[in-house]
Amino acid sequence: MTQEQQSRSASTRETSGAEIVFDHVTKSYPGQKSPAVKDLSFSIPAGELVAFVGPSGCGKTTSLKMINRLVEPTSGEIRINGEDVTKKNPTQLRRDIGYVIQGGGLIPHMSVADNIALVPKLKKWKSDKIAQRTDELLDMVGLDPAIYRDRFPRELSGGQQQRVGVARGLAADPPVVLMDEPFGAVDPITRTHLQDAASQHPVGTEENYCVRYPRYR
Ligand SMILES: Nc1ncnc2c1ncn2[C@@H]1O[C@H](COP(=O)(O)OP(=O)(O)OP(=O)(O)O)[C@@H](O)[C@H]1O
Ligand SMILES: [Mg+2]
Repeated sequence: MTQEQQSRSASTRETSGAEIVFDHVTKSYPGQKSPAVKDLSFSIPAGELVAFVGPSGCGKTTSLKMINRLVEPTSGEIRINGEDVTKKNPTQLRRDIGYVIQGGGLIPHMSVADNIALVPKLKKWKSDKIAQRTDELLDMVGLDPAIYRDRFPRELSGGQQQRVGVARGLAADPPVVLMDEPFGAVDPITRTHLQDAASQHPVGTEENYCVRYPRYR
């Protein structure tokens, strides 16, 4: 067994999170003089929480989007549990990666509950399990399910929409969660509450860009 295979089997035995490896990754957007991300290499063990911190325009969002293939690397390789993401079907890949963007990115014509249930439905969870999970997540992000479950995104404040976005990113217990400024639109008290809830759950707790590799029960 190679060293890589050993670490892979160790990580699947101890946690259902996922190891992420960047191997000399460069991204040059067409028409740009210098690359947005240049020769980036790192390795994050399964179950770890990592935040990318850096000045505006340094390539944090680009790096996140390359993990779920919203952006393709120009060169280099990104591997999740040893598998090159560019070899995977993007739709399937994204069902296993929670993604939280600034502002929530909710689907406007769907209720809060339906937004949260998006991926669990694609994964064909039973409806009672989805309902239970939705309420649990709404509680976790500090929104009373009885009040907010059936509302539409336009009936929520910006911070509430963002919290529903966090709930949606975690809904199907994905082994990887990417968070791009998940708490930017909430006030400091709510942010602290969310960070506490998140760390128990656990969720990305930094206000900046988080890549979360949770240990699931
Ligand atoms: N679609 C695109 N086409 C061309 N250039 C882009 C594109 N997206 C991002 N860039 C450029 O790539 C660089 C990195 O952008 P990116 O969005 O990754 O930065 P960031 O670190 O997330 O910044 P911020 O903290 O402001 O969100 C920037 O110079 C940006 O202008
Ligand atoms: Mg960004």
